[in-house]
Amino acid sequence: MAEINTLSIKVTKTESSKIHQVDLGNVPFGRVFADHMLVAHYRNGEWIDAEIKPFGNLSLHPATSALHYGQSIFEGMKAYKGANGEPLLFRPYDNFARFNKSAERMCMATVPEELFMDGLKQLVSIDRDWIPTSQGSSLYIRPFMFATDEYVGIKPSDNFTFIIFTCPVGAYYPEPISVKIEEYYTRAAEGGVGAAKAAGNYAASLYPNKLAVEQGYRQLLWTDAKEHKYIEESGTMNVFFVINGKLLTPDIGRDTILKGVTRNSVITLAREMGYEVDERKVEVAEVVQALENGSLTEAFGAGTAATIAHISAIGYRDNRFELPPIAERKVANGLLDRLNEIRLGMVEDTHGWVVRL
Ligand code: COI
Repeated sequence: MAEINTLSIKVTKTESSKIHQVDLGNVPFGRVFADHMLVAHYRNGEWIDAEIKPFGNLSLHPATSALHYGQSIFEGMKAYKGANGEPLLFRPYDNFARFNKSAERMCMATVPEELFMDGLKQLVSIDRDWIPTSQGSSLYIRPFMFATDEYVGIKPSDNFTFIIFTCPVGAYYPEPISVKIEEYYTRAAEGGVGAAKAAGNYAASLYPNKLAVEQGYRQLLWTDAKEHKYIEESGTMNVFFVINGKLLTPDIGRDTILKGVTRNSVITLAREMGYEVDERKVEVAEVVQALENGSLTEAFGAGTAATIAHISAIGYRDNRFELPPIAERKVANGLLDRLNEIRLGMVEDTHGWVVRL
């Protein structure tokens, strides 16, 4: 793992906070940015110039390789406010670990734990007043890294920039979403980069998703690249079904599905709450059959941005199946309540998921 030559992170605070221009009780997702960001550079095999500074634009050379060849990865995390106003980070070490897995897959430098975690903790502490407290809101944290070689040609970059910024956010999906089972386009193939949080995965999903939107759906349910026979995940989250009272979710064995931190939290909590959870290949045919015979009573996505997002309808070929009303979704609603209690520090954190600042 790469070394950082000094662990000290320079801090330059803004002289004019923007917080008074923002209604933290009513923020859309991803459009409002807190006052500061962490920036560090990888040059000559070491991380240098780590600095927390006022949030602002970057200046980039036109040949910056990430812009041309897509060597770019990111993560998503959230911070909440505890009972005494202290920031609470949810499972940041899991996101840190996944970030470096993505980095390795994309031939990028890894980020040392000291830089990632100390930078994150200091940044969130400095901008703690930006953590919204209204129901369903949080401070979304976006670590990302991109290749900065100024070079036209295909090779792994030698230089990288690592940045963390934060945004106060409300719900990513303010309403339940409809999803369409996709049987032609592919998100990820075995041996590809589907398990990495690579920027290009999201770019490639835009066109098929646009077609789904034209057909009246909000998102896709991706299927496997080989046969389009098995459900994989949705565009922004992992997916769960409740069939005959049991939870069913695609397993993450084949490197085509993102190893979601929220997915893992949901599985852990569901089992503790006494639900049976099946992690295995999920056939499109069994989901469609369960929709037809009414044994599928709930479906939801699980992701950091989306949290637990109710699925209101599932499209399959020419059929659109409407799911039962949200108020009847005992499993997903119970899991969301439980997850929120833990993230907000309202109950004992028996898993060590919450990092208090
Ligand atoms: C997240 O859930 O944090 C993500 O990165 C998904 C993104 C599409 C907002």
